[in-house]
Amino acid sequence: MPHDRRRRCPIRGNAENWEPRLEKGIDTLYDHAINGFQAMPPKGGQLGLSDDEVKAAVDHLLEPVL
Ligand code: HEM
Repeated sequence: MPHDRRRRCPIRGNAENWEPRLEKGIDTLYDHAINGFQAMPPKGGQLGLSDDEVKAAVDHLLEPVL
């Protein structure tokens, strides 16, 4: 699961981690997850994932804080 144990990553369910990121808008977060952003690798390094699969993973990370 993305970001479960990695220290510098926003953690699922941690509103403090996600609030500043949500201000960028969900489409920006999808874009950053698919194409990479700073220390976040494109598609979490799983280049075999479809864009829709990566978006579903972002939705999963965000679901508890929406
Ligand atoms: C499919 C799995 C993954 C998804 C959906 C995902 C999604 C995201 C999203 C939406 C962000 C926020 C980007 C932003 O603030 O604009 C993020 C940040 C980040 N992710 Fe992931 N991620 C995944 C896997 C990974 C993996 C495997 C790593 C480590 C190798 C990682 C490392 C990071 C880091 C370090 C950040 C913070 C980037 C920064 O603020 O500089 N992610 N991720």
